[in-house]
Amino acid sequence: MRVPPFKMERMQSTYENHVDYNLSESGVHPLRAEDLLEGPGEAAGLLSMELGYCQSNGTEELRDRIALFYPGAVRENVLVTNGGAEANYATFWTLLERGDRVALELPNYFQTPGLSAIYAGPADRFRLVRRREEDRTRWALDLDSLHRAVRPKTRLILVTNPNNPTGGILTEGEMDEVVRAARRVGAWIVADEIYRGAEVSGRSTPTFWGRYDRVLITSGLSKAFGLPGLRIGWVRGPPRTIEAIWTHRDYTTIAPGILSDHLARIAMEPARRESIFQRTRSIIRRNLTVLEEWIRGHDALFTYTQPEAGAIAFLRYDLPIASIPLVDRLRLDRSVLIVAGDQCGLPRHVRIGFGSDPDYLLRGLARFDLTLAELQGVSTATRRAAARGGAPRPPSTARSSARRSGP
Ligand SMILES: Cc1ncc(COP(=O)(O)O)c(C=O)c1O
Repeated sequence: MRVPPFKMERMQSTYENHVDYNLSESGVHPLRAEDLLEGPGEAAGLLSMELGYCQSNGTEELRDRIALFYPGAVRENVLVTNGGAEANYATFWTLLERGDRVALELPNYFQTPGLSAIYAGPADRFRLVRRREEDRTRWALDLDSLHRAVRPKTRLILVTNPNNPTGGILTEGEMDEVVRAARRVGAWIVADEIYRGAEVSGRSTPTFWGRYDRVLITSGLSKAFGLPGLRIGWVRGPPRTIEAIWTHRDYTTIAPGILSDHLARIAMEPARRESIFQRTRSIIRRNLTVLEEWIRGHDALFTYTQPEAGAIAFLRYDLPIASIPLVDRLRLDRSVLIVAGDQCGLPRHVRIGFGSDPDYLLRGLARFDLTLAELQGVSTATRRAAARGGAPRPPSTARSSARRSGP
């Protein structure tokens, strides 16, 4: 079986530990284990644990606590996985047969288009589009493309809500439209809700859970909780389907790590969960102000739609360079890593992660400025040359020295 490369993930894992400024992350600066362990009692409790296998589908206490995050859920509705990635993987593997059709929201985190290609075939795409509504511009669901993408053979509709990379959140009306489309053909809705809890407004994103009987939620602790290193994710759905997904998961990683399950139980305790979300939202609000000021300094260059959730901004740029060469150039010349829009399903865009320390963010952005200035120099020269009918002169900046002399 040919497996299409998951380009964005491979790009991040290849370079994220080898650049000076990693602005490719979509979550907030992670918590430390000691932030979760209150007092010496909890720390000692963790240290004295036997390092045996954890209950394969997650301990009952952890599943109970995850269930509390969804109104009316119980532990039988929950399977604990290794990260949100395994939750998506096992869900797609379980639901899909070759020849099924999948309707995928774009732009998106590109794990799911790859999974669709592996387990079903080519996917039908529907879009989020920038739309001016009342007093703001938001990423809105393009209903025509949704209804075109959902066909009689559609088995699964994938939405990521809040969305990565746009940070957009569907309205209740748009969620109802997704449900209506699914109901029309009897498709499953897989809603990746891993950014739920990381809203700029502080208002929790409504869940797809409870709107239709064929809904599976995938999620985890990596984004809104700031705990990616625990590698805890979950699928939440009807008990029989959860059992079927568990059967598939027996072939992958067997069980979550026992220390991770323990720390996840602490993080999912309802009061603790809410205080973790408050931390996440305050990091996002603080850093978004910093990022927006930088964006305002480049008004003519970027089209910016404020993210509603997540520590990510998805910017359209007006420069004569495709997003992958732009990101490569920034990495090679300035040792700054961001994500190319072409690896999320939208060209001429970049995704900037702003969940780190504000000084770190500003230093990374200052290096990005150097690359942008070079490219704008080229762009201006190209326009002038076109007006003269000749070829542009090369930019004067010496690329090899820029990295050392940058901020
Ligand atoms: C939408 C979405 N789903 C799933 C994942 C994978 O999450 P995890 O790191 O928990 O495996 C990511 C990671 O970026 C993501 O953005």
